[in-house]
Amino acid sequence: MPKQTLFSDPQLLPCANLSWCDGNPMAVDFDDVYGSTYDAVAEKNHVFLAPNKLAQRFLDLPANAHFSLLELGFGGALNFLLTWQLWLQQRQTQTTPARLVYTSIEAYPMTLADLQRWQQWPQLRDLAKQLQAQYPLPIKGFHQLHFGEVTLNLILAPVEEALPQVQGRVDAIYLDGFKPAQNPAMWQPAVMQMLASLSHRHTTLASYSAAKSARDPLTVAGFAVVTASGFDKKRHQLSGVLRDAPIAPAKNANRQPSKATYTPPWQRSAPPLAPGAKVAVIGAGISGCSTALALQQRGYQVQLIERADAVAQGASGNKQGMLYAKLPDSAIVSGQLHQQGLQHSMRKLGNSLSADYWQATGLLQLAQDDTELKQMQRLINREFPAQWLSLVSPEQASGFTQQAVTAGGLNYAEAGWVNPPAWCRSIVSQLQKPPWLQTRLVALQAHQQQWQLALAGDYAGSYVFDAVVLCNASDASHYVAGFGLPLKPIRGQVSYVKDTFAPAKVVCGDGYVTPAQDGTMAVGASYNLASEDTQLRQQDHLDNLQRLRQLLPGSKVSEADICGGRVGFRATTPDYLPMLGQLADSQQMLHSFAHLRKDKNYRFKQDMPWLPGLYINAGHGSKGLITAPLCAELLAAQIAGEVLPVSCHVAAALEPNRFFLRDMMRRKR
Ligand SMILES: Cc1cc2nc3c(=O)[nH]c(=O)nc-3n(C[C@H](O)[C@H](O)[C@H](O)COP(=O)(O)OP(=O)(O)OC[C@H]3O[C@@H](n4cnc5c(N)ncnc54)[C@H](O)[C@@H]3O)c2cc1C
Ligand SMILES: C[S@@+](CC[C@H](N)C(=O)[O-])C[C@H]1O[C@@H](n2cnc3c(N)ncnc32)[C@H](O)[C@@H]1O
Repeated sequence: MPKQTLFSDPQLLPCANLSWCDGNPMAVDFDDVYGSTYDAVAEKNHVFLAPNKLAQRFLDLPANAHFSLLELGFGGALNFLLTWQLWLQQRQTQTTPARLVYTSIEAYPMTLADLQRWQQWPQLRDLAKQLQAQYPLPIKGFHQLHFGEVTLNLILAPVEEALPQVQGRVDAIYLDGFKPAQNPAMWQPAVMQMLASLSHRHTTLASYSAAKSARDPLTVAGFAVVTASGFDKKRHQLSGVLRDAPIAPAKNANRQPSKATYTPPWQRSAPPLAPGAKVAVIGAGISGCSTALALQQRGYQVQLIERADAVAQGASGNKQGMLYAKLPDSAIVSGQLHQQGLQHSMRKLGNSLSADYWQATGLLQLAQDDTELKQMQRLINREFPAQWLSLVSPEQASGFTQQAVTAGGLNYAEAGWVNPPAWCRSIVSQLQKPPWLQTRLVALQAHQQQWQLALAGDYAGSYVFDAVVLCNASDASHYVAGFGLPLKPIRGQVSYVKDTFAPAKVVCGDGYVTPAQDGTMAVGASYNLASEDTQLRQQDHLDNLQRLRQLLPGSKVSEADICGGRVGFRATTPDYLPMLGQLADSQQMLHSFAHLRKDKNYRFKQDMPWLPGLYINAGHGSKGLITAPLCAELLAAQIAGEVLPVSCHVAAALEPNRFFLRDMMRRKR
């Protein structure tokens, strides 16, 4: 199997090509069914849930642990719904919380209409409705859906592209591709090898196919498989468990790891934080609030700490922020992060806020010039669902905005604006412990595998936590001994302008303007490097008005229409990607990875010298409303040792020690 990197174009996936017989879907291109036409529910239970012994394993889970399941072939989600139902049945008798993380891969997703047509099982109706309400468009990549204790990581991509991007360990596997003869891609040896690499000693698997073409690659990959009698008229089905991993021969002890299997220490998973640990989250902007909730949902005891007298007083304090991804014209990491982040934030917002605080109005990105229009055309050539992203003419753009605009551009139909403080407040209202406000982190010190925090303000004193997550934007740079994190504050000013000419959608280009809310629209934003000025500046207001006139030439706004504004600071990193993950000991990195100064491709056997319990989620620049909530889920998954909800390439690109390591490679350290 070729080494894959990011999800390749086109980004739009072909939907399942179905024919229907007595309410059952049939895959025309594979000449196969999605489940037994006699009784699909009974078949899936018999073939997948029972052999993996899920009923007992769900019961046996210790407090705050999670069970991780991987499925090849999401199809009509019958396996998912049955597993979720079993989870609810088994866990209702338990007094301690636990979680199910279900990761599933699908290359030919059913349309929502087809999904609804098949999901007619009366006993699963409620769960099916919840799934249908969040079911994503057929856009390639990771999609994370939350259903209380159950998380679904749905990866829409061909298995050979998806599996190499999965990072984590799974406890059970469903092999539910179509018949091997018709669907060899799902049963190829390289797929089975990758499944083995995602497994541990007790990982089990089940498959309805006991064909030699399924059995042999599994055995070669290291699974001990057995056949049992199949469902209904099927003679056999398969189940298995990973055998003990082979021990590397001693003679290899001093050799560099092989290039094919090598993962740099800083991209390997760190040991998870103990279940139920006490975690301090510093900073109550969108990063801190989302991180606190994501950790609480995984059973950690979370205390959110904020120096201001209310949440969202930093960059997350604007009245209206855009939910907006500026997508690139080729497959690169930032594009993959923003593409997923926009969908993630839109899904998270869902019904959580009233229309006063968030509206999925759609967003128009107008081309500034011909070069940008061509770039937009190249982006459109990457193929996205038209109901998600399309190119529009100036006339269409004018129709959308209900204003005369002179340029065409991109129409992001599923985007909009949100009031970030309301979003933060709604997240914080779900926390068990109220935040400690007017409380500033002054110093941080490692203390016998824990962290001692010196706090000033309302909760002044010295406190010990098992872990700390720095979500305090560019202020996070000060606390780590040995090196300052390269987080730079960049001033920005938005202007609030009377709504006489407010557009119906968010419109952006060089600047942006939002639809009106509470009698004003937000126009922004200035980008002032090297300024610490917290006061509103008249010149910035005038510049914002100029931006507005460029976006909406018919607008007659004048200085007199400006009725306020706000200054904030974006925390940016040198590569404009967030910093996300566990921090490491700088002295030990200098020592362990000294070879980087001679050879940046050197393959290390050493582990990363992680600082146990010290994490960061910061550096979201101008895009925090679409990156911070997704990064919070990613960080919580890393901390809890779950399968990551994003591609391993995205996680690697956000790794927070990267700047220190790059400095070493450039011999600056
Ligand atoms: C003018 C402007 C316009 C923007 N427009 C958009 C937009 O349209 N769309 C978009 O996606 N993004 C936009 N952004 C970016 C977005 O606002 C940020 O990326 C996002 O809010 C960052 O959230 P955060 O939680 O990381 O940081 P912040 O919201 O800044 O939160 C950090 C918090 O940490 C607290 N803190 C700091 N130090 C300490 C300490 N020692 N102890 C305790 N607490 C501490 C601060 O008080 C603050 O509340 C804009 C930014 C600006 C400035
Ligand atoms: C038998 S169906 C799965 C049924 C599903 N588990 C359920 O419970 O409804 C097989 C699925 O594998 C998917 N599939 C086939 N080839 C694939 C590939 N190369 N990569 C990913 N998915 C694939 C098909 O689109 C189909 O949805």
